[in-house]
Amino acid sequence: MRWSAAQKINKSTIHRKKITVVGAGNVGATAAFLAAQKEMANIMMIDVMEGVPQGKALDMFESSPIQGFDSYVEGTQDYADTANSDLVIITAGIARKPGMSRDDLLSINVKIVSEVTRNIVKYSPNCIILVVTNPLDAMVYTALKVSGFPKHRVIGMAGVLDSARMRAFIAEELEVSIENVGACVLGGHGDTMVPLPRYCTMAGIPITELIDAERVQAICDRTANGGAEIVGYLKTGSAFYAPGASVVQMAEAIIKDKKQILPCAAYLEGEYGINGYYLGVPCKLGGSGLESIIELDLTKQERGALHQSMLAVKDLVKTIDAFGYF
Ligand code: LAC
Repeated sequence: MRWSAAQKINKSTIHRKKITVVGAGNVGATAAFLAAQKEMANIMMIDVMEGVPQGKALDMFESSPIQGFDSYVEGTQDYADTANSDLVIITAGIARKPGMSRDDLLSINVKIVSEVTRNIVKYSPNCIILVVTNPLDAMVYTALKVSGFPKHRVIGMAGVLDSARMRAFIAEELEVSIENVGACVLGGHGDTMVPLPRYCTMAGIPITELIDAERVQAICDRTANGGAEIVGYLKTGSAFYAPGASVVQMAEAIIKDKKQILPCAAYLEGEYGINGYYLGVPCKLGGSGLESIIELDLTKQERGALHQSMLAVKDLVKTIDAFGYF
């Protein structure tokens, strides 16, 4: 049997979208694998560790006959290979160890994220950037400043993860399917995050009508402490399955132009009375990135908690601005 080629086609012929994942560690590799399985795009993983993205990419490719996906997954050390990405997920940086807060990572990760962003922008000037690196609200600010991109193309992943944790805990408490549970967590991705039980529901019913106040508070506390709980178990690193899945949900909303409402770290310019900082708020994600921000009518207490969260982010931003990288 012979096939006659209707046109010259090879691996570099672009028919699929392209996602670059920067950092082939636990979060990056998880995100790459999930995105490939969903056939969202071809995936390029880049990492400074020689051979690591190549090896992981090949391993994923070899799972494709079993998992049934045709997306290519490749690995590289060379930013030229990331050229013309539609979307870039930045996970590069060091992760927390027990006893460390996300903020302890600031000085190292700001250098890494600045350098990564410069390289990404050089080869993919029209991409949308999703940042995962911690401390999240400060790292996504770094990517915005260094890229010079408009704010709708630089978005941070935090709220999807924090609200997924809260949804999981609520579903466990009520012994119902996670598909019946919605949750809403605003604010920075740190100890000051703001879970909003009023906006958490089971099959449309506010959980405040279903769970007593003490248990609701326990769920909020466990949510805010969700990352540290996992660091406490792992000892040598932080969570990666849920963070990887969270950023892929954001990427899918953008790649498929879903207009999906998800809590994301967005650059606020007046919304919620906050100006010039990234903070977690409900957003609409679609083909052009962050398409709108939903402003909820918060109670005085909720607004106060969000303001406290903003002050924590403001402190971090003041520190990075003083580094003078941009
Ligand atoms: C967490 C880290 C990734 O929340 O920030 O698990």
